[in-house]
Amino acid sequence: MSTTAKLILQDQTYDIPVVEGSEGEKGLDISRLRAQTGYITLDPSYGNTGSCLSGITYIDGDAGILRYRGIDIGELCEHSTFMEVSYLLIYGHLPTEAEYARFKERVHHHSLIHEDMKSFFTSYPGHAHPMAILSAMVCSLSVYHPQLLEPEQTQSQRDQAITRLLSKVRVLAAFAYKRSVGEAFVYTRPELDYLSNFMHMMFTTPMREYVPDETIRKALDVLFILHADHEQNCSTSTVRMVGSSKANLFASLSAGICALWGPLHGGANQAVIEMLQTIHADGGGNYKKYIEKAKDKSDPFLLMGFGHRVYKNYDPRAAIIKKYCDKVLEHLGIHDPILEIAKGLEEAALTDPYFIERKLYPNVDFYSGIIYRALKIPTNMFTVMFALGRLPGWIAHWKEMVEDPGMKIARPRQIYTGERSNNYVPIGIRP
Ligand code: CMC
Repeated sequence: MSTTAKLILQDQTYDIPVVEGSEGEKGLDISRLRAQTGYITLDPSYGNTGSCLSGITYIDGDAGILRYRGIDIGELCEHSTFMEVSYLLIYGHLPTEAEYARFKERVHHHSLIHEDMKSFFTSYPGHAHPMAILSAMVCSLSVYHPQLLEPEQTQSQRDQAITRLLSKVRVLAAFAYKRSVGEAFVYTRPELDYLSNFMHMMFTTPMREYVPDETIRKALDVLFILHADHEQNCSTSTVRMVGSSKANLFASLSAGICALWGPLHGGANQAVIEMLQTIHADGGGNYKKYIEKAKDKSDPFLLMGFGHRVYKNYDPRAAIIKKYCDKVLEHLGIHDPILEIAKGLEEAALTDPYFIERKLYPNVDFYSGIIYRALKIPTNMFTVMFALGRLPGWIAHWKEMVEDPGMKIARPRQIYTGERSNNYVPIGIRP
């Protein structure tokens, strides 16, 4: 295959290099286009734009394939853990036994936040959305680690920032929850693993110790593995964009959390449950009405948890989560009418020509909230759960970018469509 494409512009022919990825994906390298031709490309919402070369995650959206560092997501869910997957994403290989033990020990060691930070939480009103608190707290955490904020860092400084954030963000999330329900903050315990400690910090009270059992721990592990990375999605691109100005990891992650909050991205998991609750309150079985609303272009209603920019096939994450949904509810002996509604809605959508033609399938957010609900995690914490899961992916992308010797600040261009050169008219004589 030719390694260049030809571009003809006003009778001039230009050679545009073709770049090929390890899975055969092809792109036109237009990094010199403006210098060569005076033109730029226009791609609002970046549907056709590759913003970087990356060796972290591979998605084939037509085939429904997702791999981290070459390993299929199904295999990782079956055999690995969220901690091991975090190492894999961030450091690029499965850890040796010694590397894994050291990594877990370092993450555990940094699971305290400065005691002064506890007072920050009490300054928020009880109804504050935990995503707002989380983003602010992650940025605030930076003030306690001034040695990790320098734009030029050694590998050891980067590792320190990485392990501290991996460990402390779950503490900040659990404390945000405790604040919202007015309960005392709970600290990690040395004998518990990463996710059991998170659940312990969330649900232990002075009256009752909470440690999740194996079925629940495994389900959470799987959910977090499935959320751990998804290449250049909105929040990860935000982390890279902010980090490209050499902003520190705390600031970059805080920005990523804000990007995730929106209902078209991570906020969809909260929106799905709210939608299913509305359908439930409306009698439960009237799927057709909501399918019709979603299809109606004059109605802003969308079928939340459906559709994806990249997947034009069943999202492999949704298929695994749906299985775990059944498992967790059965294990806890819960009959949740919301699950029945979700399944009914899915069936109705997948047989409707509108959804078939547009290749709209359930995405990662469609079933995840039903598991969180069964675990008594409040709805406004769902997107926080997504953020905790996505943390290693954001970190891996930030690290990959800052370690690239060719890194440059991200700065898209635009096509200006406003007023042409104009004169200032003083207020008294303006028409
Ligand atoms: N309900 C009804 N119609 C939809 C939906 C939906 N959920 N999603 C897409 N469409 C329609 C859309 O109106 C358009 O129709 P037409 O061709 O007639 O104009 C067509 O399908 C193509 O959609 P699009 O809006 O061009 O697709 P996009 O790639 O710009 O947006 C999306 C992707 C995920 C933002 C969108 O599907 C959506 O809003 N879904 C609901 C929100 C959601 O579940 N978000 C979570 C995404 S997955 C996890 C994550 O990234 O956090």
